Amino acid sequence: MSWFYRNALRPLLFTQGAESIHNRTMGMLNWAGRHEMVCDVMRSFLGAPELPVELFGLRFPNPIGLAAGMDKNAEALPAWAAMGFGFTELGAATWHAQPGNPQPRVFRAIPEEAIVNRMGFNNRGAEAIAEKLVEWKKLNRWPRHPVGMNLGKSKITPLDKAAEDYANSFRALRSHLDFFVVNVSSPNTPNLRQLQDKSALDEIFSALQEVQRDAQPKKPILVKVAPDLSFEALDEILELTGPRDIAGIVATNTTIGRPNTQDPDVQRVYAEAGGLSGRPLRARSTEVIRHLYRQTKGTLPIIGVGGIFNAADAWEKIVAGASLLQVYTGLVYEGPGVCRSIVSGLIERMEEKGLARLSPAVGSA
Ligand SMILES: Cc1cc2nc3c(=O)[nH]c(=O)nc-3n(C[C@H](O)[C@H](O)[C@H](O)COP(=O)(O)O)c2cc1C
Repeated sequence: MSWFYRNALRPLLFTQGAESIHNRTMGMLNWAGRHEMVCDVMRSFLGAPELPVELFGLRFPNPIGLAAGMDKNAEALPAWAAMGFGFTELGAATWHAQPGNPQPRVFRAIPEEAIVNRMGFNNRGAEAIAEKLVEWKKLNRWPRHPVGMNLGKSKITPLDKAAEDYANSFRALRSHLDFFVVNVSSPNTPNLRQLQDKSALDEIFSALQEVQRDAQPKKPILVKVAPDLSFEALDEILELTGPRDIAGIVATNTTIGRPNTQDPDVQRVYAEAGGLSGRPLRARSTEVIRHLYRQTKGTLPIIGVGGIFNAADAWEKIVAGASLLQVYTGLVYEGPGVCRSIVSGLIERMEEKGLARLSPAVGSA
């Protein structure tokens, strides 16, 4: 699958603009998701072997999840499980529906296997997304794996009202999903990353916990961090996780940094404003994971994301401290067989090392 995708399908797909092919693919996956038989066929080609992970009181059939931003409006929810993903993070959802930044806003740096995007949280708004989720449930097409939601701040909401904005989305979506990720790390909403500041973040966490104060069961709330934060700034965020009952940390979002390159086509893409994802992000994201794991002595679960394309990349992040992983750009460049291939590779590594479960490998290097 991977060879065919890389050498035949991908060159064809990449003749089209990044966003238009994304939208077409999402349309097809929406259709596929509505048809159980189509999903069964997809699963027979793309489904990943079982490699269960228990975390946050949830059972993940395998540790590879779909990263936030791919399915912002829950359009293709059933299809991700059929593609082998062990969990899905939808969103980012914001309280107000919003169109995002003007197009073009996604750019491929093909030789580097990277993407620069400045989508700006285009989404239909938390209430409309909640309706979509209800629709999937009514159709009996809800996946048998954990589904979470990435929460962003609406562009029109001023920073000092951010906590209320996140809380409104959380209230609308809370009952429908298994876990939530507070996204204060996207570079594409003006000043959003200032919310990674300790007191601002504390206010958001406290507003969210207030929403579910009397509710049962409580939904796990995680926070997603930028790879551009210093270790000191990351440590400040960690100080909040205990008092505010934060279940875990997603590391990392895209970077505003750009590596050096001599390739003029890549230089042109890197000159675009936005967040960089894919291969060039891999090492920094792993570094952040390793730091977070060491600082917390492994007590706070980490979802590792950034530049995972294959089992070696995935293993690197697991031994650095990630218990679960997510993929976005790797799916674009490696194709829909990426999950199966990563999970199979992880199982091979575990067999080589005589491990029956993944958890002893977490943070082992
Ligand atoms: C087009 C695009 C849109 C994204 N949208 C979101 C988003 O809405 N919320 C979020 O937390 N991360 C978003 N991300 C970041 C990814 O979830 C992920 O953290 C990042 O791309 C690094 O992983 P990767 O190298 O596997 O792509 C987006 C990434 C891309 C490429």
